[in-house]
Amino acid sequence: MGGKGAALLVAASILAAIPSCSADANTTALAKKPKASLLSPVDTDRRVAVFFPLQGNVYPSENFYVQMSFGKSQNLYSMDIDTGSDVPWLPCQVPPQAVYPQPSTDKLIRCDDPRCKAVHASTHQKHKCKSPTRCDFKVEYHDGSSAEGVLIADTVALRLTDRSVVYPSVAFGCMRAHSSNPNGMLGLGSGEISIVSQLSSQGVLGKVIGHCLYSIGGGVFFLGDAGLPRTGINWAPMTQSNYYSLGSASLFSGSRSLGSSRSVLLDSGTTYTFFALQPYNNFISALTNEVSKQPLTRVNDHTLPCCWKGPKPFKSMSDVKQYFEASLELRFADGGASMTIPPENYLIISNKGNACLGILNGTEAGLDRDVNLIGDISMLDRLVIYDNDKRQIGWGSCDGLRKSVTSLL
Ligand SMILES: *[C@@H]1O[C@H](CO)[C@@H](O)[C@H](O)[C@H]1NC(C)=O
Ligand SMILES: *[C@@H]1O[C@H](CO)[C@@H](O)[C@H](O)[C@H]1NC(C)=O
Repeated sequence: MGGKGAALLVAASILAAIPSCSADANTTALAKKPKASLLSPVDTDRRVAVFFPLQGNVYPSENFYVQMSFGKSQNLYSMDIDTGSDVPWLPCQVPPQAVYPQPSTDKLIRCDDPRCKAVHASTHQKHKCKSPTRCDFKVEYHDGSSAEGVLIADTVALRLTDRSVVYPSVAFGCMRAHSSNPNGMLGLGSGEISIVSQLSSQGVLGKVIGHCLYSIGGGVFFLGDAGLPRTGINWAPMTQSNYYSLGSASLFSGSRSLGSSRSVLLDSGTTYTFFALQPYNNFISALTNEVSKQPLTRVNDHTLPCCWKGPKPFKSMSDVKQYFEASLELRFADGGASMTIPPENYLIISNKGNACLGILNGTEAGLDRDVNLIGDISMLDRLVIYDNDKRQIGWGSCDGLRKSVTSLL
C-alpha cells in the first residue's frame, strides 16, 4: 500500500482492560516480491488476459512478486504486486547504470507530459519538476519504505491468452529505493499511472486484475479478464476511494459482534491484515479469552506481536486449528456478500513452531482508526478479482483458475 500515508491521527482512548498485543516484535515489515514464464489459459472469448506465475509467500518472505521484462533486454525484473499503490517502478540508478540499464535520455518522460502529472497526483506531490526535461518524483509507503527517481517510458513484453505477444510502451519509475526489499513495485491501483490503467487506456487489456496467492507459496496473477471462472464468485461493489475498497462492514467472530469499520481495503502489497481500533480491541479480548481455555502459552517470539506456544511445536495449520476455532466474518453494509476469514487466514506458524497472529493493530501502525486493511494473509487460497470496468470486487475459490493454469504448464 503505497504513496498515500494513512493520515488520520488517533484519539487514543486507553482501554485498560484490553489485553495488548503490542510487543517488541518487528511489525514494521509490512510485506511486499517470482519467476515468470507467461501462461495462456484457453478462453473462447475474444477478450484477452495475461497470466503470470507468482513467487513469494506470507511467511517468511512476506511478499508476492511477478517477473516482467522491459525494454530491449531479455532481463526479467522482480516486481511486487501492489494493489495498494499506483506507481510501477524498477530499482535503477538515476542516471547512470544499475539493475535496469541506464535509461537513455530519449526514454525520459518530460515534466509537461500528462503522465508526469498523473504520477505526481498518485504520490500526492505538487506537479513540479527540477528540470523541464525530466519528471522527478518520490513514493512513500506506509511501512516507512520509500523510493525516488524519474519517470521513464519503455516497452513491456506481454504474452496474451490469444497467444500473441505485444510490446506496449508504458511509463514507470526508474528509482533509487530506500528499503531492504530488492524488488521493484508493480503499482496496480486505479490511478491513471498504474500499469492496469495504462494498458487499458491503450486498449491492450480490460481494466481488470486479480490474483490467487497460495498458502504453500507462489500463485497466479493476471491482468485482463479472459479465462476467469464465471460462477462461484461473490461480487460486491467497489466504493469510491483511492484504494480498492469494499465500503463499510461489520465484523463478527462466530455470532459475536466485534464492531464495525468505515471501510475495508484490499491490498496485495501488505502481508498481514490490519484491523480498525474497535474490531481489533474486541477481537484481541475474544481471542485471549478463547486461548486461555487451551493449553497454549503466550510467548515472545519476535516474529509478530502475538504468538502462542503449543504443547509441542506446531508443524502444520491443522495442528494449529484445533486450538483456534473462531472464523471471522466481514458483513458488508449493502447486505449482500460477506467474507469469512478462517484461522488459516489470520495465523502463521513461525520458524520456532509457535502460532502467531497475523492480524495487527492498524491504529498503532498509523492507519486510520476506522479502516480494516485486508493483507495477503487473509486472501490466501482465494481468487480475488478487482474489476475497475464494472467497479466491483469479486472473491471465490482458486480451484478453477488453478486447474486451467496447471493444465497448460
Ligand atoms: C491498538 O492501538 C491503539 C493505539 O496505539 C491502542 O490505544 C490500543 O489499546 C491498541 N489495542 C490493543 C488491543 O493493543
Ligand atoms: C526488523 O526487521 C528488519 C528487516 O527484516 C531488521 O533489519 C531489523 O533489525 C528488525 N528490527 C528488530 C527490532 O527486530
